[in-house]
Amino acid sequence: MGVINDNISRRKFLSGAFMTLGLGFGLGMLGMRFMQFLSPTIKKQRFEEILVGSVNDMSGDDAVPMEIAGSKILFLKTDAGLAAFSRKCTDLGCLVGWDKSKEQFICPCHQGVYDKNGKNIAGPPPRPLDRFPVVQKGDNIYVKVKVA
Ligand code: FES
Repeated sequence: MGVINDNISRRKFLSGAFMTLGLGFGLGMLGMRFMQFLSPTIKKQRFEEILVGSVNDMSGDDAVPMEIAGSKILFLKTDAGLAAFSRKCTDLGCLVGWDKSKEQFICPCHQGVYDKNGKNIAGPPPRPLDRFPVVQKGDNIYVKVKVA
């Protein structure tokens, strides 16, 4: 009699213990997933500095077109120094060109106009041209681009 009762109570105890452990594990995983859902996904962005030329290469009044890491860029001296503008129009993404006589970026698609600092001043573009950070080290000019 005592052996059977001991077996049953041990079986009940083990069953209850495993159920409690399973439930605890399940609730823990659910809580962890919920916290992942609530917290924003933060991806660390990496930038790379790419040598694009020397100060002498960029010292003229005209814009210097380049393609860096798949992005079409225009270098230009602005009121605040050398800048690297994306040529992608902020309206629908056509390529802007530089009109030296007017000192403006012109988009041929819908006549969007930007001033020499990249500010949208006429037409449909909703915001200024995007810029890439420019770094000068000695006589060399670098542009910072995102790498995947
Ligand atoms: S795409 Fe440039 S103005 Fe529309």
